[in-house]
Amino acid sequence: MKRILIPGGAGYIGSHVVLSVLLTRRYKVTVIDNYHNSFPTAIERVEKIARDELPADATQEQKDACKIDVIKGDLRDRDTFSKAFSQYKGQKDEIYAVILVAALKAVGESGEIPIDYYDVNICGLVNLLRAMKEAQVWRLIYSSSATVYGTPKTIPIPETSPLQAESVYGRTKQMSEIMIKDVCDAHTDFRAISLRYFNPAGAHPSGLIGEDPVGKPGNLLPLLSQMAVGKYRDPGLRVNGNDYPTPDGTCVRDYIHVMDLAGGHVNALDAIDSDARFQNLPSRGKYRAFNLGRGQGMSVLNMIEAMRKVTGWAYPYEIIGRRPGDVPDLTADPTLAEKELGFKAKHGLDEMARDLWNWQSKNPKGYNP
Ligand SMILES: NC(=O)c1ccc[n+]([C@@H]2O[C@H](COP(=O)([O-])OP(=O)(O)OC[C@H]3O[C@@H](n4cnc5c(N)ncnc54)[C@H](O)[C@@H]3O)[C@@H](O)[C@H]2O)c1
Repeated sequence: MKRILIPGGAGYIGSHVVLSVLLTRRYKVTVIDNYHNSFPTAIERVEKIARDELPADATQEQKDACKIDVIKGDLRDRDTFSKAFSQYKGQKDEIYAVILVAALKAVGESGEIPIDYYDVNICGLVNLLRAMKEAQVWRLIYSSSATVYGTPKTIPIPETSPLQAESVYGRTKQMSEIMIKDVCDAHTDFRAISLRYFNPAGAHPSGLIGEDPVGKPGNLLPLLSQMAVGKYRDPGLRVNGNDYPTPDGTCVRDYIHVMDLAGGHVNALDAIDSDARFQNLPSRGKYRAFNLGRGQGMSVLNMIEAMRKVTGWAYPYEIIGRRPGDVPDLTADPTLAEKELGFKAKHGLDEMARDLWNWQSKNPKGYNP
């Protein structure tokens, strides 16, 4: 069985990606994480789901693959990656591809501590790329973000939209994409896919894993779910601006169920795996970038209503002024990923809200009761 290295695999998206990769029953997984914004419990629970969902005719190798190897380490430490690659070198399950999920990810914070953001998101990537070249591991899937589009001119946003990130965080994602493409151009065997996530939401339907950010959530949905269990209710819910050029005046985003998003990484692995398929993709080249979204915009008020329905909490809110830097509408054009990767999101808004609430109500204090 091939092994996939997933730095950041203990985090919100990473844990769902690890699970989706394990559920293919075709890969083993090694996670690198420093638990900056996550907990080891997430990994244990992913292993449990992977074991619980084993098919009756699972082989011993598939059973063994439910065990995740974990390296507690930091992207900024050059040796972390080299050690990980050499640990399996020459074995049947040597590392075959990397899915880089780990990053610092808060737009607001990135403007306050830019050096840390460049250190982790950029220097960490350089460390990884160097170690991959040395170990001759040639396949990379990279967690990018819709923030690379800045304020897009066209909605829905195609991948050909200019990259014009407007925050330090967004620029680290944009620069990372450029760096990865340059490496693909320079090294014949290197191939990579960037997945530009829109707004991941929800949780695995078991309620065993989900989003558990350290501190007050910066994103709308985890804030709404935590408010429903009684946290962060003071000073109340504040909606930034209702005078945007959108149907109800509040900002519109493209929410995608985190299990759909995680499944997109398996589509990307399949594409990057198959030489014929990768070479023949219509957008030729060894570096590709795809939007992962649903292509359906939802406003802040839509999301509040969806969460009200599942939680029963009223969400009293007040409208305050626009937040600087907020873009009115970020809705993906998902057609390229569908055409070339065979990716299509299956879950709708109600399932995202239901699964988010299932996770939050079963784990009101997250992973750390
Ligand atoms: N959540 C979103 O809305 C969103 C949207 C678009 C893109 N993304 C991207 O998706 C990826 C995952 O985001 P997430 O929401 O799961 O975030 P997260 O914080 O839950 O996960 C990131 C993981 O990386 C780990 N990490 C951070 N710094 C590290 C370091 N120096 N060394 C080792 N591990 C480190 C954290 O401990 C955590 O487990 C990130 O690259 C983020 O930029 C997220």
